[in-house]
Amino acid sequence: MREKKPRTVLMSKWTKTKVLLGSKMARPFIPDTRRFNKSTLRMMLNSYSMVYVKPEVGTFGNGVIRVEQIKSGGYTYQLETKVSKFKDYDSLHSSLQQITRKKSYLIQKGIHLVKYNKRCFDIRVMVQLSPKGKWETTGLIGRVAHPGKIVTNYHSGGKPMDVKRLLATHLSSSEMEKVIRTLNDLGEGTGKFLHNKYPGFRQIGLDIGFDRTWTPWIIEVNTNPDPYIFNQLTDKSMYHKVMKYKRAAK
Ligand SMILES: Nc1ncnc2c1ncn2[C@@H]1O[C@H](COP(=O)(O)OP(=O)(O)OP(=O)(O)O)[C@@H](O)[C@H]1O
Ligand SMILES: [Mg+2]
Repeated sequence: MREKKPRTVLMSKWTKTKVLLGSKMARPFIPDTRRFNKSTLRMMLNSYSMVYVKPEVGTFGNGVIRVEQIKSGGYTYQLETKVSKFKDYDSLHSSLQQITRKKSYLIQKGIHLVKYNKRCFDIRVMVQLSPKGKWETTGLIGRVAHPGKIVTNYHSGGKPMDVKRLLATHLSSSEMEKVIRTLNDLGEGTGKFLHNKYPGFRQIGLDIGFDRTWTPWIIEVNTNPDPYIFNQLTDKSMYHKVMKYKRAAK
């Protein structure tokens, strides 16, 4: 079925995940995601030890919680900079239940993100329909979490950073080129896939995080991505291109 109202649909991270799982190309890179409830949380913690619990509809990293099962026993979770500890599963769950009972939350396999100066980072991949009608990666930017936080969002104190500078702290230049090609391919493939289903979409922003094996996990696909983050870089060429394509899409 074709959907023509992109701004009113796909706000839900749950719906977005289900749609994206239909893409053969993207599917292997989508972390296991479930709806929040007591038995699913227990199952997910048993499988992954670390999970993210987040609002089904949310922005700016608000309300995003990192939950961990400790090897030596017990559980912790972190919301903003506050860490809470629990001896058993029931007390963990009842505390989370207090936070999550007012709206719908999801549980996602936690990715142990590669770090920069001990701070987690992920990469925003901006993909836009070019004036010639081709999906093109127009911007890549690193987002380094605020020290002591578990989200990388700019509005939660994350620091935007030149992607090559960031990756060069871990990779050789040929490895880096390969990783950048992978990001571009994943972004453009996802753009094409979504455009097929929802022809109204003309730009998307993927949040991609790497684990220690450099697997590019798609943490989220934003369907109304903020172009202004690219204005944070000293080199304005990406920002200008993003804005040019954005204007052409109107
Ligand atoms: N499964 C995960 N593993 C590791 N880190 C995660 C995971 N889920 C979220 N994060 C971190 O938390 C940040 C915020 O999560 P997410 O993008 O899902 O929500 P949001 O930012 O509130 O939504 P939006 O991007 O629409 O504003 C991510 O950019 C990432 O840094
Ligand atoms: Mg996000």
